[in-house]
Amino acid sequence: MKGFPVSENFDSRIYGRVVLKFYNFIVLNISNRLAWGCSTRSVLLPFFQENFSDNHLDAGVGSGYYLERMPFKINQSLTLLDKNEVCLSVAKGKLKKNRPEVICEDLLSPVGRLGNKKFKSISLFYVLHCLQGGMSVKSRVFDYLKRHLDEGGVLYGATILGYEAIHNKFGYQLMRFYNKKKIFCNGLDSAYDLTVELNAHFSEVVVKRVGRVAIFSVRHPKI
Ligand SMILES: C[S@@+](CC[C@H](N)C(=O)[O-])C[C@H]1O[C@@H](n2cnc3c(N)ncnc32)[C@H](O)[C@@H]1O
Repeated sequence: MKGFPVSENFDSRIYGRVVLKFYNFIVLNISNRLAWGCSTRSVLLPFFQENFSDNHLDAGVGSGYYLERMPFKINQSLTLLDKNEVCLSVAKGKLKKNRPEVICEDLLSPVGRLGNKKFKSISLFYVLHCLQGGMSVKSRVFDYLKRHLDEGGVLYGATILGYEAIHNKFGYQLMRFYNKKKIFCNGLDSAYDLTVELNAHFSEVVVKRVGRVAIFSVRHPKI
C-alpha cells in the first residue's frame, strides 16, 4: 500500500442510533446547505437517483436517507455495506420490504465479504472525507469497489473537500471540529487529487464541484 499511514484511531461508531436520528437534519439539511453549499434535495438526491439501478450496492449507508427515497423495481437487488453494524441495522430496518443484503466490511481493509458479486451501480456518498489518510490511501476504496462493478456499471459519489475549497465561516468551524475529532479526515483533500486517483482506476471519469463538495461518477475500471 502506498502513501500515508492509516490511523486506526478513527471509529465509525460515532454513527450510533442517537446520532443517526439527527443525521438527516444536521448533515443532510443544515450542513449541506449552509456549510458545504450543496443541497441534498436539489443536487445530491437527484444525482443519487439518476445513477441508481436495479442491482445496487450502497457503500457507507449512514442513516439510509437516499435509499429510502429511491423508486424500487419489482426485481430490485440491493446490498448495503458498512463498517458499522448499527448503520447497517438502522438502514436495513428502514428498507426491510426491499430485503437488502447486508455486508459488514471495512472499505479500507476489506476481507472479501462481497465475494464475486457485481453491481450495475455503486454509491459512495460522504464516505471518502471520513476516511483517514491522504487521497492515495483513500483510493484503496476505488481499487476494491471497481472489482465489483458490472461491465458498463457506474460507481458514483460525493465527498466534502478540504481547506483548498475555501469554506465559509460555518463550514470552516465544522471542518476544524470534525477533523479534530477524527470524524472527518479531509483537510488536504482536493478535487485534483481525487481526479488523479479516479483516473488511475477508471477509464471514464467525471468530477464536478458544487459548493465545497466534489461529485463524481466513473465507469470502465482499469483492472
Ligand atoms: C457520513 S456517513 C454517510 C452516510 C450516507 N452515505 C450519506 O451520504 O448520508 C459515512 C458512512 O460511512 C461509513 N464508514 C466510515 N468509514 C468506513 C469504512 N472504513 N468502511 C466502511 N464504511 C465506513 C460510516 O459508518 C457511515 O455509515
